[in-house]
Amino acid sequence: MYIHLLVLTFCGLRNLVSGSTFSPARPPAIPLAVKSPYMNTWLEVGNDGGSGGVLPGYWPGPQPGPVAGSNGAVTAWTGFITVDGSSSTWMGAANVNGVVPPSVTQTSLEYTSTRSTFIMNVAGKVSMNVTFLSPVTPNDIRRQSVTGSYLSVTVAAIDGGSHSVRLYVDTSAEWTSIHNSDTAQWSYSVDNGVANHKYWRQTQSEFNADYPDDAAHWGYWYWSTAATSSMTYQSGSDVNVRGNFLNNGVLPNTQDTNYRPISDNWPVFGFANALGNVGSSPVETLYTIVHAQQNAIYFDSANGDVGVPSLWTSYWNSDLDMVGFFYNDFRNMASLSEATDSQFAGDSIAAGGQDYLTITSLSARQAFAAVQLCRTDAKPYLFLKEISTDGNIQTVDVLYPAMPIFLYSNPILVKYLLDPLFENQEAGKFPQAYAMHDLGANYPRAIGHPSGDGAEYMPLEECGNMIITTLAYAQRAQDTGYLSQHYSILKQWTSYLVQEALVPENQLSTDDFQGQLANQTNLALKGIIAIQAMSEIASKTGNGADATNYSNIAHDYIGKWHEMAVVTDANPPHTNLDYQDDSSHGLLYNLYADRLLGLNLVPQAIYDMQSAFYPTVAETYGVPLDTRNVFTKSDWQMWTAAIASHSTKTIFISLLAKWINETPTNRAFTDLYNTQTGDFAGGQFIARPVVGGHFALLALNGAPTAASGK
Ligand SMILES: *[C@@H]1O[C@H](CO)[C@@H](O)[C@H](O)[C@H]1NC(C)=O
Ligand SMILES: *[C@@H]1O[C@H](CO)[C@@H](O)[C@H](O)[C@H]1NC(C)=O
Ligand SMILES: *[C@@H]1O[C@H](CO)[C@@H](O)[C@H](O)[C@H]1NC(C)=O
Repeated sequence: MYIHLLVLTFCGLRNLVSGSTFSPARPPAIPLAVKSPYMNTWLEVGNDGGSGGVLPGYWPGPQPGPVAGSNGAVTAWTGFITVDGSSSTWMGAANVNGVVPPSVTQTSLEYTSTRSTFIMNVAGKVSMNVTFLSPVTPNDIRRQSVTGSYLSVTVAAIDGGSHSVRLYVDTSAEWTSIHNSDTAQWSYSVDNGVANHKYWRQTQSEFNADYPDDAAHWGYWYWSTAATSSMTYQSGSDVNVRGNFLNNGVLPNTQDTNYRPISDNWPVFGFANALGNVGSSPVETLYTIVHAQQNAIYFDSANGDVGVPSLWTSYWNSDLDMVGFFYNDFRNMASLSEATDSQFAGDSIAAGGQDYLTITSLSARQAFAAVQLCRTDAKPYLFLKEISTDGNIQTVDVLYPAMPIFLYSNPILVKYLLDPLFENQEAGKFPQAYAMHDLGANYPRAIGHPSGDGAEYMPLEECGNMIITTLAYAQRAQDTGYLSQHYSILKQWTSYLVQEALVPENQLSTDDFQGQLANQTNLALKGIIAIQAMSEIASKTGNGADATNYSNIAHDYIGKWHEMAVVTDANPPHTNLDYQDDSSHGLLYNLYADRLLGLNLVPQAIYDMQSAFYPTVAETYGVPLDTRNVFTKSDWQMWTAAIASHSTKTIFISLLAKWINETPTNRAFTDLYNTQTGDFAGGQFIARPVVGGHFALLALNGAPTAASGK
């Protein structure tokens, strides 16, 4: 009892639900295998239809969906364990001819930036540690390029005895396509000591993917484990393969060669492991799931249309070489991921406390799984998918909010994101004076917009984003050459801003779900900050006259902006949402760029004024984005928090952490929600890269305190 009280006192973030504890929080959904836009399998948790956070008894699903609980598309993943002859389910919701093995008892779920760990108790006899590790190794690009995820299952006796244990796991052909009428094909092989079930969509269609369900129509899945003498395997119908394990404890080492549609006697790919008598020493069994695409992106590059290979093809000659490396590299990947965990945790706690770590650690895998490392010849690229909202590729106003995690964890990744945008536009493939909104409407087809239109019209937004992001990268990486290389087009975009930024015409900002508006205060501020950023770029690259000119313009504009933007007679005073409406307000998140770049263009009084204002309009789960409704954006809240006073920062962070614990949403971290109910707001924004923006506090580490040329 005493110990129980201590737990409640010192671990206030642990909730007791369904007997399982949650640490650091009960998330809306928990990442399982989350490593690329096409490997995005989560367990839904929230009350809108999720499992409550318990692994057995519920199907994992691909995000953004359609998923289990909605219309039934799942990435089936089944786990059974047999202890002293008695079988139970530890993952999935398999029904084998009416037999549903009872669920093991889950005692806890813990997540870090790279792994989700479920602890199970099996009849008081053995405990299981089921860990899903999706490595995040930003400074080891070779390892980061592998589109694979680990499942480690450790079993140990907990009652002082020893028990006969058999373990079973399968994946299904549902991983190959969200359309159950599609025909799957599969094979089995042993290579490098690793046993592989390989399965794929029989009709491969390179560079085609579904929107909005985000499934690739090409590539090969590898579901693997160690080829040991105690391992048996089988491919076949779900009922047959699972039934063999439940009835016999082993699989017959046979392959079903009747390739067929996914829902025709549901093909599954099983492994069984006889662990023998397990005592108190833990016995680990390791599995991997890999999605291998030789070519990943179709790109209208400086050299014309090319298929861009996945970056891992630079390091391994074949799918199987990569899969074998990945399987056998587990110890290294795990220790590098632990290093990532402890770096992100240490920095998050220092910057914003435990609540902030609750937010960042749920965001890391989601952000990294929305991008793919690719290359042409020796040149790496990082392609970004605007998952769930349009499916555009390299959307500039999505790359911009996502930027903090990349800038913080390895700035070179920001260059790899920007490069394809520069390359396409500098080759003259976008005939407008302003910067392009995206590199193509449908990921993975980076075909640009050679006609100059066809994309969302956000000219001011994207010119500002490109200039600010480019300088942020160059400062952190000390890569002035990059600024010189792109000086001409950056100057072209600055000319656009000089004309348009101070009094923005009626247009969209990145928050397009709020509609168009003239004279947007926050949008104007971005444009003006970007002009000052260009002054800094000019100064660094020896363009002294431009540096002076742009700095003069930016300072002139910021004075005029102040006149139109600040509602001095409000109580407390604040900036407006648009110049002509002094009853309006909004998150002034673009102010963050002034700090990020160390420009000191905007007077400290503006920061202080906004910090004093936000708490007065906070709702249950956050501060509304603006006065048009009670919706908010999690990313923009963290951008705003990063530059707020300590007490206001704490309010933003604690309300978002509270939202994570309590939201009824049951999908991968939505960045758009209702601040009063915690539920979805308007559309569902699922599994988007912009959660990388939750690292806004950390991206300020190493920001210049005062740029040169002041
Ligand atoms: C479970 O296993 C993972 C590694 O696979 C480890 O990091 C974690 O500490 C373990 N958790 C417990 C509670 O034993
Ligand atoms: C300053 O920049 C503006 C906008 O690009 C340009 O029109 C103007 O000619 C420049 N002035 C000087 C002195 O370079
Ligand atoms: C935008 O602001 C300018 C400058 O204050 C003003 O002249 C103009 O009328 C405003 N536009 C709208 C649509 O209110």
